[in-house]
Amino acid sequence: MNELLKQDAATVGTLLEKVKQTGVQYLEQINERSTNAQQSVVINGSLQATGAGAEATLQEFYQRFEPLMVAAGGPRYWGFVTGGATPAAIAGDWLTTIYDQNSFAVKGQGDISANIELETIRLLLDLLGLPDDFLGGFVTGATMSNFTCLAVARQWIGQQTGKDIAREGLQGPIPVLAATPHSSAIKSLSLLGIGSSHIIDVQTESGNRESIQIADLEKQIEALQGQPFILVSSGGTVNTVDFDDFVAIAALKKKHHFWWHIDAAFGGFAACSNTHKHLLQGWEDADSITVDCHKWLNVPYESAVFLVKDRHRLLQVGTFQNSNAPYLGDPLENFSFMNFLPENSRRLKALPAWFTLKAYGKNGYKDIVENCIALAQQLGAYIASSSHFELLAPVRLNTVCFALKDVATDNDTAAFLHELNSTGKVFMTATVYKGQKGIRAAIVNWRSTAADVELVISLMKQQAAKR
Ligand SMILES: Cc1ncc(COP(=O)(O)O)c(C=O)c1O
Repeated sequence: MNELLKQDAATVGTLLEKVKQTGVQYLEQINERSTNAQQSVVINGSLQATGAGAEATLQEFYQRFEPLMVAAGGPRYWGFVTGGATPAAIAGDWLTTIYDQNSFAVKGQGDISANIELETIRLLLDLLGLPDDFLGGFVTGATMSNFTCLAVARQWIGQQTGKDIAREGLQGPIPVLAATPHSSAIKSLSLLGIGSSHIIDVQTESGNRESIQIADLEKQIEALQGQPFILVSSGGTVNTVDFDDFVAIAALKKKHHFWWHIDAAFGGFAACSNTHKHLLQGWEDADSITVDCHKWLNVPYESAVFLVKDRHRLLQVGTFQNSNAPYLGDPLENFSFMNFLPENSRRLKALPAWFTLKAYGKNGYKDIVENCIALAQQLGAYIASSSHFELLAPVRLNTVCFALKDVATDNDTAAFLHELNSTGKVFMTATVYKGQKGIRAAIVNWRSTAADVELVISLMKQQAAKR
């Protein structure tokens, strides 16, 4: 055995104790940690012949990288849609690494990790109020979840004309209808060979909405004259968190022939709130749903689930099966994740989600979700009454999409945001909404409080006064 490995194996307890101590310190001080890296890293790509050992490598990490780690899991990191990590989720994540199981099979392949994954999917369905006729699995993020769902949708389209697209390849354009799809759904269509330019734009509802206009959807469906198609709908658009009318879409599905996919990456968690779950009414009739766990479930990256109706199981296996690999078993005989999603070998991604669901239960998630909604409303109320800012859309859930008033040039918004983020006390990101430059603050972290919102409001006022 390599001498350094031998030494590290003998002192692994001391090593992990140090990691724990500094990790806990980071978490305990995360409110004070900067949300913005003030400098970058000088890349040094030359690898020594003899390694430094784990202890010295840890020191190099602490010296070069640790001080630059931003509070991405902190209470005022509101850029993109960035969730935190609950204490239980962190524990589950550590254990995932310690036990290092390969979550790809259920039976006959040695370990039970896939059963934990199946149980976690059932817990999530219960949390979200979805029926258990969905089968699901964990992938790295909502992008891969959209990809997985749309891959099965592609296989379904083939089936309608007697084709097995996974084997035969695409033989013609597949119509996809959508109004405000997330960029990752468009990227998935590109990756799947469906092509992003085949999206047929459906109009949005009038009056500052991003949701599908049902009358136009019906018109576009009629124009397809019975040709099967894919509908990509939104359970929370990224700019203004608008939801499509799922009850109306479910009614259309009874009359027409299409695969219905919902991207509910973070909006799906509205199901945890008594006051907002109506936004998702009817979503249980979709063929497939994307839910991102590293967003509002507050588990560490990389974690999302795809949910596909069990009745499509054969199509799913047809899409993702490992053919010509007898050593991996018969894909149709035993359910196994490696024949059900893009990756073969995978870490036990479900464990952090299992931990946090068990630890905090339905009430815990109701509290997290309703707290974030209340904080977004608090920030939104300030913006609506401010002389410096204006809301670009009503605050529908957890995200505030706003702009500076009286901007002379396009650079004003960028300059304001740069100054605000440079304080290191808050992080928001830029966007463009209906052609207008704006700023988004998305609150999806269990740590955020009303005091955080107050602090951010005072920083916004200070920066605005300097303009
Ligand atoms: C609605 C929606 N879908 C998909 C994604 C992509 O998620 P991920 O970055 O986890 O792949 C996001 C990310 O913000 C999103 O908001």
